[in-house]
Amino acid sequence: MTLEIEKLEGELLAQLNAADNEASLEELRVSALGKKGSVSELLKGLGGMSSEERQVFGPKVNGLKNKLNDLINEKKIALADKALDERLLAEHLDVTLPAKARRQGSIHPIMQVFEEVATIFADMGFSVKEGPDIEDDFHNFTALNFPEKHPARDMHDTFFMQPNEKGERKLLRTHTSPVQIRTMKNEKPPIRIVAPGRTYRCDYDQTHTPMFHQIEGLVIEEGVHMGHLKGVLMEFLARFFEVDGVDVQFRPHHFPFTEPSAEVDVRCDRSGKELKIGTGNDWLEILGCGMVHPNVLTACGLDPNVYQGFAFGMGIDRLAMLKYGIPDLRDMFNSDVRWLENFGFEALFSPSITSGLSR
Ligand code: DAH
Repeated sequence: MTLEIEKLEGELLAQLNAADNEASLEELRVSALGKKGSVSELLKGLGGMSSEERQVFGPKVNGLKNKLNDLINEKKIALADKALDERLLAEHLDVTLPAKARRQGSIHPIMQVFEEVATIFADMGFSVKEGPDIEDDFHNFTALNFPEKHPARDMHDTFFMQPNEKGERKLLRTHTSPVQIRTMKNEKPPIRIVAPGRTYRCDYDQTHTPMFHQIEGLVIEEGVHMGHLKGVLMEFLARFFEVDGVDVQFRPHHFPFTEPSAEVDVRCDRSGKELKIGTGNDWLEILGCGMVHPNVLTACGLDPNVYQGFAFGMGIDRLAMLKYGIPDLRDMFNSDVRWLENFGFEALFSPSITSGLSR
């Protein structure tokens, strides 16, 4: 029996020596220590021995079992270490190599200008409101005091949806002014809001696209007058065009929803190559504005003898073209990456909101 054990030990150690990977080690473990393994069979045999025999062979067989178990585990670790060493030698990473250039996205000038304009008005206590692009006749026209036969209600000017059973047609809003109506109906004065968003008209040339962007302003409070309107707009224009002060001209105009109404021009210089805002002998039309018409206040359930207010509206796209020298409006919406690389803004630098960091 002793001989048998020693012989088995010799064989097992030779197999252990020869095993040079994890799979053959595992094979050896199963063949010796598994349920039907050679060492396990010897252990089972101890049961049939006399107690004297067991005292002699028990420790020997158990010793063999423990020794083999330990050796297999040690070798497993040694093999894993060796494999890692080989990989470390074979593979290498040069961390000093320059990184691959990655294409970076940029902020569209329209979004940049939205941010700039909203920030300036936020500093003056305005909050931002939004309304739906698909409007009804009431909010887009009737409540804004448009007469029944106004040309904007014409099929040629406005995108109308198919009429419903009652003959009512929804439309793509032609301006951001309906947000005024929605705000006055839902909120109590004092109201100070700006409403940026997409607007739609049947128009297409260098300075017009069927979809464009506007920002609307509305202030409703007791005792508001045109002086406030002028002050707010002058502050806005000076900050937006980054000049110390701007000369503005309020030119009488007509809008159905304001009375009196005006268009606002800023002083500019067209004599050089570039358009300069703030100096010169020319005027540049920027926006429309006025005191909210009593009919509009009434349509929204506000008493015109108590509340007054002013409103203004301007084209975001036009502001972007003027400030950043973009010659053709249609290019803004062509989704040409080369154009965006040229006119887009770095997002990561979080540019000072009124100056922007052009690439
Ligand atoms: N809604 C006008 C337009 O689309 C712009 C406008 C003018 C808005 C005067 C106003 C305003 O709020 O008071 O041409």
